[in-house]
Amino acid sequence: MEPIQIAIDGPAASGKSSVARLLAARLGFLYVNTGGMYRAVTWLALRRGISASDGPALVEAISSGGIFFDPGASEVLMKADGEDAAAFLNSAEVNAAVSVVAAAPEVRRILVAMQQRFAEHQDVVMEGRDICTVVLPRTPFKFYIHASEEVRQQRRAAQGLHDSISKRDALDQTRATAPLDGAAAVEAGAHWIDSTALSLEGVIGEIVGRMKDRGLVIDLGRWTVTRRPE
Ligand code: CDP
Repeated sequence: MEPIQIAIDGPAASGKSSVARLLAARLGFLYVNTGGMYRAVTWLALRRGISASDGPALVEAISSGGIFFDPGASEVLMKADGEDAAAFLNSAEVNAAVSVVAAAPEVRRILVAMQQRFAEHQDVVMEGRDICTVVLPRTPFKFYIHASEEVRQQRRAAQGLHDSISKRDALDQTRATAPLDGAAAVEAGAHWIDSTALSLEGVIGEIVGRMKDRGLVIDLGRWTVTRRPE
């Protein structure tokens, strides 16, 4: 049986991480935060004094054992130089450099291959910028979560994080390799969700409704999911 792969893309602070994490927990799927993976590589670069734009040096650092990603039952454990990266991923320093690291095609190639492996044999909810178009192009369960810039700024500020999301979005949208592109995601089959005025449960409800339309049977009492027989 093919695994069920739920792909969620969207700009910074659109709410996709909260939605993806909660949906994965309820369904018992693996949650893959691909932004976290680019953030872990960025933290490694900062620790080692590697320039964020030096793709070959970043690849060397990743492949010589600097990065360890372990997909557990519910989330991917991320380590840099043997140290749990979780507490450092949303620091101001990482926020400021991550979009430069993520623009390096060599880095993307390695991380995309890992992300595809995580989704090969287990059900996943995977979120990022290029999941619908590049990482999981064949899944029928694709979503693009948008929200107005004002609301996104407010959400990030409410988390108490220092993060220039407009600058990050601009870099993500204009890079040459796999740019953030809502229209391309929709063209690849993603269902567009404007979360500006929606609660977390509102967005999850819209995703679940769409998944049912696309051939899944979801028991919301127990949050079990099965494929509808052909
Ligand atoms: O949570 P937030 O929306 O702030 O960002 P994130 O998902 O943690 O992603 C951080 C950064 O990683 C983005 O600004 C992109 O530069 C990069 N990224 C990417 O290029 N491709 C992905 N699939 C996921 C993230």
